[in-house]
Amino acid sequence: MTPALASAFGGPVHGVEPSDRMRAQALAHAADPAVTYAAGSAERIPLPDASCDAALLFFVWHHVVGRAAAARELRRVVRPGGTLFVQANFADRMPDVWWFRVVPEWEAADAAQFRSEHEVKSDFTAAGWTLVAHEEVTWVRSASLAEDVERLRLRSVSAFEHMSEEVVDAGFARIEAALPSLDDGPQHETSQLLVLRPAG
Ligand SMILES: C[S@@+](CC[C@H](N)C(=O)[O-])C[C@H]1O[C@@H](n2cnc3c(N)ncnc32)[C@H](O)[C@@H]1O
Repeated sequence: MTPALASAFGGPVHGVEPSDRMRAQALAHAADPAVTYAAGSAERIPLPDASCDAALLFFVWHHVVGRAAAARELRRVVRPGGTLFVQANFADRMPDVWWFRVVPEWEAADAAQFRSEHEVKSDFTAAGWTLVAHEEVTWVRSASLAEDVERLRLRSVSAFEHMSEEVVDAGFARIEAALPSLDDGPQHETSQLLVLRPAG
């Protein structure tokens, strides 16, 4: 996301990420002269007050433990009149992805990671953010069914961390059996985008 933000809006863009390994991946695959990556978290952002025109949380909010502190910290770094974008899934509005239809147990495990629409909106309004828009964004998740299956097999979806080996294995067996009947074309996904501004 960070190089795309830099090319769309100009830099500098600061990627803040607590995991050393994820920062190393970002440097390896998303290096850009207008982008810097810093150790930090949503709860502790290593940037001065009012130093950002905008902030983007892209599928991050469900990982954040100190939500009240993080919503306040984002308020601190985004300048008055600036914008906060939160791209997420909500537990009560999960995307319609094909493997949830084949393996409903996986949808339950995935949804359990997320907060509800009301909870996420409240997290931010309680910290002095005003919701100015709620959009549904549909994006191309992968070019083909095979690409989806390959990514699932890598278990790069964090829902797998919350399932037993039996549920994972049984799910892959059902997927294997269902593959011939599934649409092989580009795979789309719809997720939720909240647009917020500092209140007042
Ligand atoms: C699903 S990944 C999204 C990564 C990145 N935003 C992207 O679009 O490629 C979620 C990321 O949130 C990071 N994360 C976990 N806890 C966090 C926190 N408290 N503050 C900020 N990021 C956090 C994880 O290390 C992980 O890299």
